[in-house]
Amino acid sequence: MTTENLAYKPGLEGVIAAETRRSYVNGQTGTLLIAGYPLADIAARATFEEVVYLLWLDKLPTAVELDNFKKQLAALRPLPAATLTLLRAIADSGVPAMDALRMAAGTLSLGVDETDASALAMALVARFPTIVAAYWRLSHGQEPVAPTTDLGHAANYLYMLKGERPSPAQARAMATYLNTVSDHGLNASTFTARVIVSTQSDLVSAITGAVGALKGPLHGGAPGPALDMVFEIGQAERAEPYLREKLESGHRLMGFGHRVYKVRDPRAEVLGAAAESLYQADGDMALYELAKYVEQTAVALLAEYKPGRNLQTNVEFYTALLLHGLGLETALFTPTFAVGRVGGWLGQCFEEMTNGRLIRPKEAYVGEMNRQWVPLEERQ
Ligand code: ACO
Repeated sequence: MTTENLAYKPGLEGVIAAETRRSYVNGQTGTLLIAGYPLADIAARATFEEVVYLLWLDKLPTAVELDNFKKQLAALRPLPAATLTLLRAIADSGVPAMDALRMAAGTLSLGVDETDASALAMALVARFPTIVAAYWRLSHGQEPVAPTTDLGHAANYLYMLKGERPSPAQARAMATYLNTVSDHGLNASTFTARVIVSTQSDLVSAITGAVGALKGPLHGGAPGPALDMVFEIGQAERAEPYLREKLESGHRLMGFGHRVYKVRDPRAEVLGAAAESLYQADGDMALYELAKYVEQTAVALLAEYKPGRNLQTNVEFYTALLLHGLGLETALFTPTFAVGRVGGWLGQCFEEMTNGRLIRPKEAYVGEMNRQWVPLEERQ
């Protein structure tokens, strides 16, 4: 369908809708750069705070700058009283954690000057983990664990979820995960956030909208089923018959295939290595080894059943394994994705606020023209 000689691109595929310095994604070569740095070089080395600083200011912080940034974020971790009251009020309702995060995110403008973008951004990043952890515990009949300022962002998130300090290996694994998902081009939630700030609305509105976009199963919701598949397979010798049966009955293998990546998703590489280190540190490699075998078998069978489609492992497969290894239940996977992605959403919002123009594409009208008004009493 065209209008005024413009072609309609379903899903805006192939349309350039923004310029960014935040992340570079090349699906043909399997490249992901975060502000110019190859993901594999920084994800397992940087703290999450360092990556957020990079995404916001386009440079790695010095030691002093990082120390200040960490202290400011840590001081903002406690939730406003109204946010905690809301989480307590909905805890028994059975609302999924992503919905609770969306509801609570909207309260984070309370007590912060809405025109101070930097203050809003700091509050959003600092408090996302506190919201997710507090709601998780409340909805499981436990009191929230107050954040502590003497742990880094990733370690404190695990601490608030479980009530005990994570091991260095666990803290590292969580930081690597958050860094890995911190930004990824103009995905649906990032686009949503950019559209909202392009109207000169505020950052809390933009991030609340982005959470809503991320919640959808086509965006942030696949790692749970990928893990279920590995558990259903249970042992290596069952992998091939199980996967063949799925493919022959027309099912998709969760954790494989990607709209952009036609080679192995570089995030799968980083998270696979992080999962290996975590399971090694825990001293039980059985699930990791099984998942690795399932991955190899799945990729080989996808090439056999879907030749030429280049279906490779995507980010969700090892996300599931890593977060499970950290003791997170599948219902926490997507909210934890949001805890990482909020850094990138805000980085891209800052760009949009600086460079952007009101985002206002056209639509092709496909309805009737010049219909005749029919009075109510004459309608059939
Ligand atoms: N298992 C089996 N077949 C698959 C898979 C899969 N995981 N993925 C794609 N295919 C097949 C399709 O059936 C189709 O085959 P056909 O042409 O014979 O009908 C062909 O490959 C192309 O599929 P499309 O849907 O056009 O590919 P698209 O690029 O739109 O799909 C998607 C990408 C949605 C991720 C898809 O690969 C999929 O459903 N994967 C499983 C779910 C999943 O892992 N999602 C998480 C993605 S990562 C993320 O979004 C953060």
